[in-house]
Amino acid sequence: MPENYPYRSRRTIKPHQMDASRGVADSLIGEILEDAHWAPTHGMTQPWRFHVFTGKARERLSAGLESIYDRLTPAAERREDKRAKLGANVMGAPVVIAVAMRRDPSGRVTDLDEIAATSCAVQNLMLSAHQRGLGSFWSTPPVACSPGFAEWLGLDSGHRCMGIVYVGYARPGFEATSARVPLEERVAFHRE
Ligand SMILES: Cc1cc2nc3c(=O)[nH]c(=O)nc-3n(C[C@H](O)[C@H](O)[C@H](O)COP(=O)(O)O)c2cc1C
Repeated sequence: MPENYPYRSRRTIKPHQMDASRGVADSLIGEILEDAHWAPTHGMTQPWRFHVFTGKARERLSAGLESIYDRLTPAAERREDKRAKLGANVMGAPVVIAVAMRRDPSGRVTDLDEIAATSCAVQNLMLSAHQRGLGSFWSTPPVACSPGFAEWLGLDSGHRCMGIVYVGYARPGFEATSARVPLEERVAFHRE
């Protein structure tokens, strides 16, 4: 495998597996976002929008997500563990990136393509983070994909929230694992 080959070795690292005491330099965050920004887009709409929370701003975000959860979830269905996890995830990661897609106002590109392009940007972001020694986790609980969250972020109705990406260094010694089904189960070659 070529040196610095990130595609198969990237693993999800969740906030509780991150070293909360270790911050991430602004310049590094900038590099990762720049890599995300070079994802492909249909019609060059570049629909991704990243809202980056670090330091004390995470406290505001943590409280915001918990209050949106309360607002969106009928009282009978509310679960304290789910609510608390929203806030704890934010406080457990040094860098928290809310991901939104902004549909091109001309409507010339489908919703599917705008979502796909934004997903390409997120994958670039996570691979870039991994290549630079950082872990990441893309999380999509209903609250973080809700119009209520878009409103909380100050975004107009042309935006669609697509979850949150947590970025940080893994705790020393932490080894994440995950597996895949055999490739043959997902690929068909058509040669004639
Ligand atoms: C679009 C998308 C949304 C995801 N949302 C969640 C989520 O809400 N909760 C979660 O635990 N993992 C979520 N994940 C992460 C997956 O659980 C993780 O990628 C998967 O377990 C494979 O592990 P790996 O990334 O280490 O290969 C999401 C991944 C993607 C691509």
